[in-house]
Amino acid sequence: MKDSHCKKAYITTPIYYVNDVPHIGHAYTTIIADTLARYSRLVGIETFFLTGTDEHGQKIEEAAKKRGKNPKEYADEISKKFRDLWDYMEISYDKFIRTTDPEHILGVQKAFEKMYEKGDIYKDYYEGFYCVSCESFFTQTQLIEGEYCPDCGKPTQIVKEESYFFKLSKYEKDLLKWYEDEEKCIIPKSKKNEVINFVKQGLQDLSITRTSFEWGIKLPKSINDPKHVIYVWLDALMNYITALGYGTDEKLMDFWPAKVHLVGKDILRFHAIYWPAFLMSLDLPLPKHIAAHGWWTRNGEKMSKSKGNVIDPKEVSEAYGLENFRYFMLREVSFGLDGDFSQRALIDRINSDLNNDLGNLLNRIIGMSGKYFDFEIDSSNVLKYHQKELKEAMSHIEKLPEYIYNVQTNRYLEELWKVLTLANQSITIYEPWKLMKEGKNEEAMALVALIANLLAKTAIMLSPAMPKVANKIADALNFKIDTQSYKKLIVNEELLDSFKIKKIPPLFTKVEKELLKEKKVQKEEKKSSKKEKTPGIITIDEFFKVSLKIGTIVEAEDIEKSDRLLKLKVNLGEETPRQIIAGIKEFYSPNDLINTQVCVVANLKPAKIMGLLSQGMILAAKDEEGLSLIRPEKRKKEGTPVK
Ligand code: MSP
Repeated sequence: MKDSHCKKAYITTPIYYVNDVPHIGHAYTTIIADTLARYSRLVGIETFFLTGTDEHGQKIEEAAKKRGKNPKEYADEISKKFRDLWDYMEISYDKFIRTTDPEHILGVQKAFEKMYEKGDIYKDYYEGFYCVSCESFFTQTQLIEGEYCPDCGKPTQIVKEESYFFKLSKYEKDLLKWYEDEEKCIIPKSKKNEVINFVKQGLQDLSITRTSFEWGIKLPKSINDPKHVIYVWLDALMNYITALGYGTDEKLMDFWPAKVHLVGKDILRFHAIYWPAFLMSLDLPLPKHIAAHGWWTRNGEKMSKSKGNVIDPKEVSEAYGLENFRYFMLREVSFGLDGDFSQRALIDRINSDLNNDLGNLLNRIIGMSGKYFDFEIDSSNVLKYHQKELKEAMSHIEKLPEYIYNVQTNRYLEELWKVLTLANQSITIYEPWKLMKEGKNEEAMALVALIANLLAKTAIMLSPAMPKVANKIADALNFKIDTQSYKKLIVNEELLDSFKIKKIPPLFTKVEKELLKEKKVQKEEKKSSKKEKTPGIITIDEFFKVSLKIGTIVEAEDIEKSDRLLKLKVNLGEETPRQIIAGIKEFYSPNDLINTQVCVVANLKPAKIMGLLSQGMILAAKDEEGLSLIRPEKRKKEGTPVK
């Protein structure tokens, strides 16, 4: 496999505001960044991974005041919660920066000074609207109904104060040129287009100081204007260079420019417009990639403390397993799109992808090697019998670097799972038990060794996402996951040397029911015991338990023995289409159904109908005139939720 990359990589998460406790949205950004950092180290790149907390600004000042604390005290408390969570989640950060760190403060002042000396900062009056929640400035025309923040919908404040301005407008052309020259400077592409359109509408100079509150970094002494504090976004963005010592001790600055800044879509504008403009002003190179992910919602709603629907990543990890949770977050949604968190979907991933495809495969191979070969594995005849399978596995593995560099962790894992599918299929096709019966021991050994090697390669490439699980697999297969084994088994496409397989406990256990349910149900029950239940009325939460999805019928055939049933294969955007047995034969013929779309109940317990497995139900409306399938008005992507 080709193996070309840079020598050093600097990977960052946003720094988290300390006005809120961490939830799965924050964990998502951090898990992706951690996976990228681990991948980078695995392939032998010297990597620096930064995370931290954003502690200044009006929002934090107000949050502290509400709790009767001074801002620093309050920031210490919440910052620790983030750090403790990342430590609990074994996030492999190299530095945890706080914007209250003295080196950061000095670095920001140095940067301000440099931009000022360059003539990029001037003093004027700001008159406009400010959203404290987003820490953003707006003109009245940008507001909703002339009053509300276009980003978060909260009321804005009228601000009229003396302010220093950054000449953002001066960098408009250079920014547009950067977007044009560097195809992947902002990923995914859809998000890049949004940024370009925004900049093309024209950039106004940016107010970068405030005088109406105190909790922020003062201007550098050389400017001598003590009533001003530096705008929180200028302060915060600078963390990416002050963490490397900018303006103080610059010995880590050779990690700059960042390989990737990972951000949520809500803060892309700050990273893709303000940040590169500040860097241009400082004569520093621009980041290689700014990667924007979508948002996690809960039952289709934004998560917030006031709605009480915030999910604690620690609680999910404790209930379902830390790495299972990581796998789910990385696998479940396409990078850049929003995702809805549901325990059902998490359980499906654990039971199907992890337990069935991966865990059971390892168990089988341990079992077979023990039964047939006293746990000894010898790869010497794998190429003789299974060159085709090895080639196919490598064709999947070769696609992985491209996916990871595009931050498409979902596609990365999906592609990696094709290696496991191949391994599982090989057992079914070659039937090692038969080979043994027929005395073809050499062939049986080649097959068992093939599977062991496919598992080893999978473990190496899985290790950035699930480090512990990957190490357990490696332990069973008697090798170590590191850059050396990556080079040997992945880059050089070699095989494991002969070894004795080790029996280890199963990697996963099947999850039978929602593990976070009890607490929620208790809460709901408490709530509902106070209110009278109206018969026949369900709550919105009860409705959301049903997962409805759009699917495309890819195959349809008659079930001969039945005059009511058809056998359908419906693509719901999953790895394999679902088989659904539907009672619609009187109204539809198979040919009319192929390539049409339907609405499917996707989380119905699978059932056997006339001995055939049915993995879902299709929605239809039936009256005296007949039956009509419920279909989307326009074609939708397979798997699109119906709400
Ligand atoms: N402090 C700023 C970032 C400054 S970086 C120089 C900030 N902090 S934040 O705590 O509000 O958000 C941090 C990150 O968490 C953002 O990338 C944001 O998109 C992400 N998320 C917060 N809630 C989220 C979800 N519900 N879903 C996914 N990610 C979300 O913005």
